[in-house]
Amino acid sequence: MNVLILGSGGREHALAWKINQSHHCNNLFIAPGNPGIAQIGKVLDFGVNDFEAIKSFALTNQIDVIVVGPEDPLVNGIYDFMEKAKHENGWKGFVVGPSKEAAQLEGSKAFSKKFMQRNGIPTAGYAEFTKDNFEDGKAYINQHTLPIVLKADGLAAGKGVVISETREDALQVFEDMIINQQFGKASSKVVIEEFLKGIEVSVFVLTNGRDYQVIGHAKDYKRIGEGDTGLNTGGMGCVTPVPFMDSSFMQKVEERIIVPTVNGLAKEGLVYNGFLFFGLMNVAGDPQVIEYNCRMGDPETEVVLPRLDTDLLSLFAAMDNGTLEDANINFSEGFYATVVAVSGGYPGDYKKNIPISGIEGKLPSNALLFHAGTKETEGNVVTNGGRVLTVTSKGHSISEAVKQSVSLLENIHFEGINYRKDIGYEFD
Ligand code: AMP
Ligand code: GLY
Repeated sequence: MNVLILGSGGREHALAWKINQSHHCNNLFIAPGNPGIAQIGKVLDFGVNDFEAIKSFALTNQIDVIVVGPEDPLVNGIYDFMEKAKHENGWKGFVVGPSKEAAQLEGSKAFSKKFMQRNGIPTAGYAEFTKDNFEDGKAYINQHTLPIVLKADGLAAGKGVVISETREDALQVFEDMIINQQFGKASSKVVIEEFLKGIEVSVFVLTNGRDYQVIGHAKDYKRIGEGDTGLNTGGMGCVTPVPFMDSSFMQKVEERIIVPTVNGLAKEGLVYNGFLFFGLMNVAGDPQVIEYNCRMGDPETEVVLPRLDTDLLSLFAAMDNGTLEDANINFSEGFYATVVAVSGGYPGDYKKNIPISGIEGKLPSNALLFHAGTKETEGNVVTNGGRVLTVTSKGHSISEAVKQSVSLLENIHFEGINYRKDIGYEFD
């Protein structure tokens, strides 16, 4: 198969690493990629939202499968665009991802809450507001229990969720989002919901909207500071498997959440052919959905794919040709952890173009280095984002895996480098 991956982060590096191991992989292309990805496949110089360039490349190079890393192109309709290329231009491949309509499960919080309500899927109680019922929203906040969660309806680069401890703060956030258009159009509608207390865990599924396979799960550490303190980030590290994800909890997740979601897609005619990411809260032993994402997570992919002992291209083919139900999913023994190295100042302002050293050496066989925000300038690899790179390790325990990643990161240098040494701390 000829494969095109869209994206340029650690998630896409992990996807490229995994897909490259498949004996079904002939040519591997990544747009736009990064210097780490360039060691695995051929990187291309167009962006993930340049649909015309994607189509033209797919047609000229007989691409069989387009794997979409980030949510943007999915919410913008790359699936539907390439379906049209099948009919109009005879494209023979398929996109791993949902249709534009189904991608609203991630693209609109209000859409996903309504979907969950219609399909009886456990989630926090909520109401939605726009400027037309702004006063009702204020009254809703004033009678609501605290803390209270406010969410911009649309995509807001991971910054659209605020947890308020006081009514004054919640009222201010509500006004900023709706009246002051803090996130532009994305916050013209706001979902206000109950705060769920528990431990978060993410579950990853591959589905064609009829059948599904669980391909892994992970716990993500979102706060910048050790002990889960400070600002939220895109993710500072991840571990898998998570000790409380035993068969009885997983059975509840499948029966109460995954099955009704996939049945809901089928019943409502929402076309889906890709990854579905369930952001869950374990509330006193019962799973509830915090959010859906229509893609893999980052950095979750960097532990989920190393643990997955099944050929990913075969799974994609099975998903597309309707035999996903018969696929065998195997997981490697042991524990996996990834620790993300970020730029100094992140998630606030940070500098770019800082030279990185210490990434050329050979790693132990149970470790992987994935590039995230890096680029090559005059032959040197330099920083090019908040999350710069991530080191994944395998161990007999979570703490052993984390310790190895931290010690490997001690050999990697760039000015301002920062990473958490306490990923997985609660599982020691
Ligand atoms: P989201 O952008 O939906 O992933 O939300 C960002 C983060 O906010 C989640 O990962 C949770 O940590 C937190 N969060 C979102 N909704 C809730 C909720 N209802 N209760 C508690 N925490 C939440
Ligand atoms: N790590 C969280 C996400 O990918 O959305």
